[in-house]
Amino acid sequence: MPTTEEIVPSSVRAGNADEQPSHSRENNDEKPSKSVLVPDNSPGQKGVNSSKRGERNPLNIAATLGALSACAFWLSGLAAACAFWLSGLAAACAFWLSGLAAACADAAPPARAARMLYASPRAPVEARVDDLLRRLTPPEKLTLLAEDSIFSPLTLQMPPIPRLNIPVMHVTDSSQGLRGATSTAFPVESVMAATWNPALIGQVGASVGQEAKAYGNQLVYGPCVNIHRSPQDGRNFESFSEDPFLTARLGVRYIQGMQSQGVAACVKHFACNNQETFRHFVSVHVDDRSLHEIYLPAFQAAAQEAHAWSLMTALNQINGVYAAESRPLLTGLLKQRWGWDGAVFGDWGAIHDAVAAANAGTDIEVPKPMVFTTAALGAALKSGAVTQTVVDGKVRRILRLMVRTGLLDGSPPPGLAAVNSPAHQALARKVAQQGIVLLKNANGLLPLDRAKLKSIAVIGPNAADTQLGGRWSADVHPAYQVGVLDGIRKHVTGAVTVGFAQGCPRTLPGTPAALAEAAALAAKSDVAVVVVGMDNNYEGEELDPPNLNLPGDQDKLIQAIAAANKNTIVVLNNGTSVLMKAWLTQVSGLVDMGYAGQEMGNALADILFGDINPSGRLPDTLAARREDYSDWENYPGRKGIVRYAEGVYVGYRHFNHAQVLPLFPFGFGLSYTTFQYRGLRVPARLARAGVATVRVRVKNTGTRAGDEVVQLYVGAVAPNVDRPVRELKGFRRISLRPGEETLVSFTLNARAFSYWDSARQGWRAEPGRYSVELGSSSRDMHAAGQVVLQ
Ligand code: BGC
Repeated sequence: MPTTEEIVPSSVRAGNADEQPSHSRENNDEKPSKSVLVPDNSPGQKGVNSSKRGERNPLNIAATLGALSACAFWLSGLAAACAFWLSGLAAACAFWLSGLAAACADAAPPARAARMLYASPRAPVEARVDDLLRRLTPPEKLTLLAEDSIFSPLTLQMPPIPRLNIPVMHVTDSSQGLRGATSTAFPVESVMAATWNPALIGQVGASVGQEAKAYGNQLVYGPCVNIHRSPQDGRNFESFSEDPFLTARLGVRYIQGMQSQGVAACVKHFACNNQETFRHFVSVHVDDRSLHEIYLPAFQAAAQEAHAWSLMTALNQINGVYAAESRPLLTGLLKQRWGWDGAVFGDWGAIHDAVAAANAGTDIEVPKPMVFTTAALGAALKSGAVTQTVVDGKVRRILRLMVRTGLLDGSPPPGLAAVNSPAHQALARKVAQQGIVLLKNANGLLPLDRAKLKSIAVIGPNAADTQLGGRWSADVHPAYQVGVLDGIRKHVTGAVTVGFAQGCPRTLPGTPAALAEAAALAAKSDVAVVVVGMDNNYEGEELDPPNLNLPGDQDKLIQAIAAANKNTIVVLNNGTSVLMKAWLTQVSGLVDMGYAGQEMGNALADILFGDINPSGRLPDTLAARREDYSDWENYPGRKGIVRYAEGVYVGYRHFNHAQVLPLFPFGFGLSYTTFQYRGLRVPARLARAGVATVRVRVKNTGTRAGDEVVQLYVGAVAPNVDRPVRELKGFRRISLRPGEETLVSFTLNARAFSYWDSARQGWRAEPGRYSVELGSSSRDMHAAGQVVLQ
């Protein structure tokens, strides 16, 4: 064993040089090592006119009764409170009396409340939090954590505290748009991931944040940064990718974008929510190294780089302990080791034992207190099972969330102008254009030539009725939606006939007559576009598809159309992966469109007709057979346990390690142009504390402008531990005109070469030789070099 191996310190791991030292007065039970101060000029602290706060908040009616009447109210409560607490410890009684005094003193009209430190938008976040925490009575603290919220299936509203002018907090679901209100439907996260464009996804986060704010929300439950472990996870469309690095880069920008609008992201589901089957109780048995290398990096980046203001636990157990009740995960790792100061929401049904969840580090329950109730927490406090210090730590986190989102600043919602604005529509189209992946283009069939084309048959259950996503939390209802049939119609003139036939239903068996009608249409058309896929009755929350076959008779439909017309192009409109063996060799074109948002039909047509050069790259490996995926023998688990026996060999790591040829590899996607790589520069040596700069020249050698996604993979040549052949450690999307060449640079630090050393609980960068490969997918390398880590 080499003597100079390195355990990479936390600061290197996080790479968050901008993190501030802690000024937090967190409870002793939590002791976070670091805390993040939001600058005074953050969006959450702008635009306050305190004199108007009372007028804007209908709940101020109680407060305007004035100090005397408020005192009377609180004195009348004294008898009941004292009776209850006198039966307990004298110390508790004294505590209540001091709380009562504080309550009397603070029962102020809005003008007076406005002069209090916590209500001052210009005061530092932690000072405001401290001030407000001091003023809350013990019952009010429990109210903030566990008082019954006002809930509808579409939104959650956390309760107000009128005495202190704390208004109701509004929360909504989703990541590609808003649930329960008309909003822009952006492409889902798996399509966002196919753009490999973090900056663009940052704009989506900001736009969803704007729309959430327009409706008066302070928090959005999203994004999901869970890893696509199984191709059969019905919520894969709601999260980014099978790869932790890609997921982390996109998640960070999405969160930063959203929070730039003063709206909290609630990153979910921490951790190992990788299937919907048995999601309420399944115990994920995962080894420590895989947990840290595959399932946690995106959460760590969300906590330490993006400084997400909140996070939601998973429903499942991890190694026998429910995620919401895991102290090592929530307090040990998230709050202490990562130094994260946000609020932890227990997902709907995640909490089984209020005391265990409270002591583990869950701060509040979604969508309303069911187990984590005032009664349960009150009793736990009384018995000493939960300490006041623990409760105060939670309240502090909720208050921090309120301060950060500007809830206490009294600014009214900005109006609905942002909702479905032309800018958001254009962004939805751009993300779809960059996230739709061209997988097959035999004989240069695409792009279609409008000048030569006379007729197109648009066929399939998802052609006219194109779908936006899976069910429940991710439901989005846009003001309009362009399906594939509409999009194609809008892209041609009257000189081109566009025919339509459904061919078969989406999930039910079809009829021979409908199939024959569709085949006849295809036979008399120049080109057939067959749009197949799934919907929100087939995949989504609590709904893994039963297998990876296209539902209903859709395979048969494709075969029939391909037999009738050699120019058949299949378009996939679904989330989970599908098997294509039944027809792939028979069709000329294949486009993985996914659930690409309200502008999907336009974006697809832009690509089919060559107005846009396709540039999406797969965020997941697509296999030829179900059994080729690494979860095959361990999904969905037996007797309540799912063993992650594949370890770190998830996605392309598995296909490379097991030497299984994928149908389409991770990172793959075709273009209408070609690119050439040359002049790779990799430093020969790298000191462990150093940073390696890798450079390569990339040229567009075709005749069309286009985007290339340059991918950088690192692999240990002769490691002392078993490691993947190569792992993604960098990527860049570049745009090049025909003939144009550019220099692409990457920097790699020690973390890029590290694996998680469970014995020493740290990242270890073993000295030795590493490959550095650059290419267009995880299987298609155009330039390779080596570096020796010293
Ligand atoms: C889902 C969460 C969602 C929550 C609130 C839960 O069932 O798992 O993702 O945010 O409901 O709707």
